Amino acid sequence: MRSISPTQTITDYFKEASICCPVYIKWAEGVLKIGRKVVVGPFSTISARDNIVIGDGTNIAPGVCIIDHDHNLKKMRLIKEIGKTAPIKIGKYCWIGANAVILKGVTLGDGCVVGAGSVVTKSFPEKSIIAGNPAKLLRMRV
Ligand SMILES: CC(C)(COP(=O)(O)OP(=O)(O)OC[C@H]1O[C@@H](n2cnc3c(N)ncnc32)[C@H](O)[C@@H]1OP(=O)(O)O)[C@@H](O)C(=O)NCCC(=O)NCCS
Repeated sequence: MRSISPTQTITDYFKEASICCPVYIKWAEGVLKIGRKVVVGPFSTISARDNIVIGDGTNIAPGVCIIDHDHNLKKMRLIKEIGKTAPIKIGKYCWIGANAVILKGVTLGDGCVVGAGSVVTKSFPEKSIIAGNPAKLLRMRV
């Protein structure tokens, strides 16, 4: 498991990206890769228990949540236990609108646009413009 040393900040660690603090970024037991020139807006959450990859040049607006796991639904107690996990892959040059939520198992191809406040539950190919809860295709980018 990688970790940040006591003298490092999150912006030092992901130094090829532009992280607008405050953010919550956690990758305990998981893998998180944030590409070059990625912007992560303030009040966003990125939480990896499995594998999250964010491609170069992707712009993440404020308040976005990217979470690759659920809690265990089989037990009434110990809800903190991790349940299903699945990797998330966000391509290059995507734009994720404010307060969007991206859930486990989603792959977004290069150049996708996600509308503000959307909940993305499934994958979309490159250049898709998607919005809503659950997110649906509005049209393709030209
Ligand atoms: C997704 C988005 C880019 C689409 O913009 P657009 O192409 O101008 O789309 P339109 O406004 O013409 O809307 C097209 C349809 O999608 C719907 N729609 C647009 N954005 C939506 C959203 N975020 N959630 C749900 N539906 C949405 C519209 O209601 C409209 O539906 P209709 O055809 O039934 O009337 C834009 O609406 C959006 O959400 N932008 C994100 C803004 C943001 O977060 N900025 C942060 C700055 S970093």
